[in-house]
Amino acid sequence: MSKAVIITGASTGIGRALAVEYSRRGYALGLCARRLELLEELKQELSGGEAVAIAKLDVAELESVPEVLQKLKEELGGVNIVIANAGIGERSFPGEGSFEVDRRIIGINVLGAMATIDAAAELLKKEGGGQIVGISSVAGFRGLSATPAYSASKAALSTYMEAIRNHLMQHKIAVTVINPGFIDTPINTHRQIRPFLISAEKGARLMADMIEKQVFSSTVPVWPWAVITTIMRLIPERFWYKINV
Ligand SMILES: NC(=O)c1ccc[n+]([C@@H]2O[C@H](COP(=O)([O-])OP(=O)(O)OC[C@H]3O[C@@H](n4cnc5c(N)ncnc54)[C@H](OP(=O)(O)O)[C@@H]3O)[C@@H](O)[C@H]2O)c1
Repeated sequence: MSKAVIITGASTGIGRALAVEYSRRGYALGLCARRLELLEELKQELSGGEAVAIAKLDVAELESVPEVLQKLKEELGGVNIVIANAGIGERSFPGEGSFEVDRRIIGINVLGAMATIDAAAELLKKEGGGQIVGISSVAGFRGLSATPAYSASKAALSTYMEAIRNHLMQHKIAVTVINPGFIDTPINTHRQIRPFLISAEKGARLMADMIEKQVFSSTVPVWPWAVITTIMRLIPERFWYKINV
């Protein structure tokens, strides 16, 4: 049987590019997102390869996550890798009447991702092992003043995944945290400056290589983000808040 990967947020951007990349690598695919029509188009595009199962899923509806992942697994006849990729990147600032945006970001990027990871761990334990991947961000390395809630959501996801690694390893489940820099997707097309931008296709190729090697965590691309994030972490807070505009 071919290997199978389930990807949340597969309708556009990184999730979609990962679906295409894993199809090219001969994996069966379980794809979910809120926009089912986009998943249907993608399924058509990928027809001819291994099995493709699709499902509508809003990861913010936490109770529905286990059911949808289970259904995708059953359709594929098993699963080896689950990628918690679904995420949003809106801006909001405290005291400006936009707390609802913060709540949405945490609901999707943190709770939605944790619900995905929780359901994935249950499935993979039954499979006898596998791998859980979280698409976090370089924005999680330090508090970024341009996107406070987004930055906090990615720090939370990365920290959570670091914390569960030991437990899941005992069940032969590897945990991989991917921290993309700027990847050319709808989440950031409105931004005027996107340093070191790479295409979603190249990003997906690099991510799939890292996932295959079961790295614990990595920036994507490694260079220059590994250096930038290391420097970011070394800057004292009394300077960070001044340059972090
Ligand atoms: N692009 C970058 O430069 C970059 C950098 C660092 C990290 N990331 C992370 O990479 C991940 C993918 O983002 P992207 O760049 O590919 O952006 P994108 O093109 O906007 O894709 C986001 C995906 O998440 C899905 N999604 C959003 N809310 C959802 C929800 N409530 N339930 C289920 N699916 C949901 C969207 O599908 P539907 O709308 O159809 O549900 C879409 O497929 C995100 O976690 C993002 O934070 C991206």
